[in-house]
Amino acid sequence: MCGIVAATAQRDVAPLLIAGLKALEYRGYDSAGLAVLDGGQIRRVRAKGKVREMEALYRADPFPGGTGIAHTRWATHGVPNEANAHPHVAGRVAIVHNGIIENYADLRARLQAGGRAFTSETDTEVIAALVDERLAAGLDLREAVLAVVRELEGAYAIAVIDRNAPGRVVGARRGAPLLVGLGIGENFLGSDAQALVQVTHRVIYLAEDDVVEITRESVRIHTLDGTPVERPVHESELSADAVERGEYRHYMQKEIFEQPRAVADTLEARLGPHGVLPNIFGAGGDELLAKVRGLHIVACGTSYHAGLVAKYWIEEYAHLPVGVEVASEYRYRDAVVPPDTLFVAISQSGETADTLAAMRESKRRGYLGTLAICNVPESSVVREADLRLMTRAGPEIGVASTKAFTTQLAALALLALQLAHQRGLDADRYAGLCAQLAHLPRAIEDALALEPAIVALAERFIPRQHALFLGRGVQYPVALEGALKLKEISYIHAEAYPAGELKHGPLALVDESMPVVAVAPGGPLLEKLKSNLQEVRARGGELIVFAEGEAGMDGNPARGALLRVASGGDFIAPAVFTVPLQLLAYHVAVLRGTDVDQPRNLAKSVTVE
Ligand code: G6P
Repeated sequence: MCGIVAATAQRDVAPLLIAGLKALEYRGYDSAGLAVLDGGQIRRVRAKGKVREMEALYRADPFPGGTGIAHTRWATHGVPNEANAHPHVAGRVAIVHNGIIENYADLRARLQAGGRAFTSETDTEVIAALVDERLAAGLDLREAVLAVVRELEGAYAIAVIDRNAPGRVVGARRGAPLLVGLGIGENFLGSDAQALVQVTHRVIYLAEDDVVEITRESVRIHTLDGTPVERPVHESELSADAVERGEYRHYMQKEIFEQPRAVADTLEARLGPHGVLPNIFGAGGDELLAKVRGLHIVACGTSYHAGLVAKYWIEEYAHLPVGVEVASEYRYRDAVVPPDTLFVAISQSGETADTLAAMRESKRRGYLGTLAICNVPESSVVREADLRLMTRAGPEIGVASTKAFTTQLAALALLALQLAHQRGLDADRYAGLCAQLAHLPRAIEDALALEPAIVALAERFIPRQHALFLGRGVQYPVALEGALKLKEISYIHAEAYPAGELKHGPLALVDESMPVVAVAPGGPLLEKLKSNLQEVRARGGELIVFAEGEAGMDGNPARGALLRVASGGDFIAPAVFTVPLQLLAYHVAVLRGTDVDQPRNLAKSVTVE
């Protein structure tokens, strides 16, 4: 999703802004631009496509200037082209913006009635015009922005400069992230700490409705009513290395291979030799969890699939009812909340607009409390939850989520175990499940060793347009996640079904041109799954089976392939079987030559509705 970087410094800021935009590329975008104050004028460069294309234009005609704003845009209002790219300029003002202004049409009509012309289709240009209007009426930049954001409905993070206010950038946020980076004699704004890691580690996370003014020497924050406030300074732990690609061809591949470490880090000091350690969900967490009589899990995308796995675990081991729902649905319907229900939000970024809105909505619906499972400390979801368990995946750059998913599963496994233990799960069974979970990093390591075999398998998918994924029980969400990975990065249409549903519709699609991927570890449902696979075979479908044993393939499938995966046990099998599906999607995408880390049309962190 869109990314913002802004700077005010003694040195020329355009190169810093470009470096910051490159660090934000992972979020997904389709155009880029920057604007700098250069001796009383606004100099601007914008381009459709990648940051390097905009950079080439800048380098062909560079300009100096110590104050500037920059942006990567993920199109919402208006197609991706130069005219719609940010920064937008109106009179004295240049602005960059993330989010969607819901009342922009009314505001635009009012401005047009007053004679103002617009050069783009964006809602952002409307904000620029409104600020310009206020400046013309005599307000200074901070006052003007404050007055304008009071009129805005919707979500925004903005950074604004004024031709007549050199050395000054004003930012504001509501429902979209923005933070301040503190340098020495220079200050910055960015959408996340990663954008600023090359210039500073000292950051201030702005709160909802904050308006900030930065100069080289000062940072002043005000709330929407104009009251000055102080916000704490954090030392970001991100290192520039953590966002390097190293020896890997893509971030996604690097992140797939980081999973053993990331999962081990997530379990570290949380799973002891005798079970889940006390209060890993925060102070008073165990006490609150002991009262829980049901859970509602809400998330989007891959995080939603993690929630679906958790439902199987929690219902099986803790016997608590669990509802799982995508956030964009949950927030707009009247979910019935039985007494003592825990609301659980799962989010890698902690800034997904729908998940955040759902969590805010949940606070009005009478839950026992809220728990966030999240990868980004200081994100909005984490800050607004009562309890939290951080996944420790480290920065995830590839748009297609991999290590975030398996670390979410590790965190949710801890939750399931804690809930089950509190509700009297048999001690031997509890110990056995804990031992399996402790083995998960190793089991993932073993699954990664399948990569060469998966590369060979991936070739079969190069000419395909469609694929079906099948799983049963707790492996059904794994099939969903496998299908999502394939469609996200290889652009092959892929759908997942619980294998038992095959004959209720999707079997009609099966012929020689349809690869069917089945996730088939051992367990009680294996026999059932085997007969589902026979149904595919009988129709000439190409079966690709990831199995612990033979899975009815008799070691010598007539058409198709069998890949043996050691699950490490029923409990952790969903996390382990996810890994070969990630590798499959990755290698199919590489072979098809797509933009693996930044697939078309997708964004890493979806901060608009
Ligand atoms: C986007 C990303 C997905 C991610 C989803 C939810 O669609 O491309 O990879 O699963 O958002 O993101 P979250 O940060 O809330 O987990």
